[in-house]
Formats: sequence, structure tokens, C-alpha cells
Amino acid sequence: MSSWHSGSVTKVRVAESGELSQGQLDTAEALVRSAFGDGFRPHDWLHGVDGVHVVISDGGVLLAHASVVTRTLRHDGRDFDTGYVEAVAVHEGHQGRGLGRLVMDYAESVVRERHVLGALNAVQSAVPFYAARGWVPWEGPTRADTPEGLVDTYDAADRILLFVTSSSERDGFSKGVPLICDWREGDLW
Ligand SMILES: CC(C)(COP(=O)(O)OP(=O)(O)OC[C@H]1O[C@@H](n2cnc3c(N)ncnc32)[C@H](O)[C@@H]1OP(=O)(O)O)[C@@H](O)C(=O)NCCC(=O)NCCS
Repeated sequence: MSSWHSGSVTKVRVAESGELSQGQLDTAEALVRSAFGDGFRPHDWLHGVDGVHVVISDGGVLLAHASVVTRTLRHDGRDFDTGYVEAVAVHEGHQGRGLGRLVMDYAESVVRERHVLGALNAVQSAVPFYAARGWVPWEGPTRADTPEGLVDTYDAADRILLFVTSSSERDGFSKGVPLICDWREGDLW
């Protein structure tokens, strides 16, 4: 099921996993690749493709995208059903006019309504954008639950941020205890 918000010309669509056509996914991928530049690798898009997509368009032109993928994060013996936010991007020619805010408003609603925790791994330049929205940098150790068992996933380039909802309890995260993600192809965070 999709939900729509229609302003004067700007449309927001929240598309369930599998609802976007291949053509719509290709358009979204092109937007995200162009906004991120060369650092965006093939599996970076694959990480978001099965999620719930938030797409913002104007006059039929895609202007912004985010997807929320279901993952499980573990901390201190507790499993957190997590909305992992991927592929947040605003068309290069339309940044700085509130579309990033709008696409994240919807992505965070998906997190709040369907998950107990939000998480993402931001590029350094976007950390202040998320921090201003209440996303909190994770400063403790990270691990991943891989087919070979638990592995240390420390990477100096990671900027992992958490979006704590009321059901995930703000005080429940201790940086002395590792945050553990589930396994996936490519970058684990
Ligand atoms: C990061 C990005 C999504 C922000 O979208 P945007 O449409 O430019 O942002 P908005 O116009 O909605 O800005 C919302 C607020 O965030 C602030 N903001 C936007 N980008 C920011 C940044 N990189 N650092 C700090 N603040 C930022 C704005 O000043 C604005 O603040 P205000 O509410 O006080 O006015 C967009 O710049 C982008 O697509 N960048 C390239 C891809 C990328 O880095 N994606 C995020 C990957 S994790």
C-alpha cells in the first residue's frame, strides 16, 4: 500500500517494499548515485532497495529519496527491531530547500510506527543534518553477527547514528557495550 501527501506541486509517496516498478527504482538509484558521487558503490544501492521507499517528486521529476530497511540490532542481550535508513538523497539542484527535512520526516515516521529503533551510517558531511533532528552518534564498539560468528566491525569512516524511540528507551544504550548488527552483503553498517 502507498500513502501520498500532495502539496501544491510536491508529492510524497511512501511505497512499500516491492511496490516501485523497476523503472522507478532505476530513477531513484540514479538520483542517489548522482547526489553521493563516486563513493557510492553498487551494493550501497542494493542495501536500500528492499526497504520502504520515501520518494518526493515535483511535476513527475524525482527530487528526493530515502529507504527504511528492516534489520535487527543487538545491544546488551536485547534484540531491537530496527528501521535502518539508507540512500537518503536530494537532487543536487534542489538541496537546501527543505526536501531533506521532508524526506526524513517521513522516514522517521516509518521508523516510529514500525520499529523500536532507527539507525543509519552517515557520510561525515551529513552528520550535523541528522544530529539536528535528534539522531545520536553511537560512540561505543560495533560488531556484526556473521556466518562466521561475531566480528569486530570498527571502521574509522563509520558514522553510526541512532534514532531512539520511546519503546527503545534512551537510557538503555551504554557505550561500554557493543552494538551488534545482523549480517548482509557488502558493508555491514
Ligand atoms: C544531506 C541532504 C539529504 C540534506 O538535504 P537538503 O534538502 O539539502 O536539506 P534541507 O534543505 O531539508 O535542510 C534541513 C536542515 O538541515 C540543514 N542541513 C542540510 N544539510 C546539512 C548538512 N550537510 N550539515 C548540516 N546541516 C545541514 C539545513 O540547514 C536545514 O536546517 P534548518 O532546518 O535549521 O533550516 C542533501 O544535502 C543530500 O542529498 N546530500 C548528498 C547525499 C548525502 O549526503 N546524503 C546523506 C547520506 S547519509
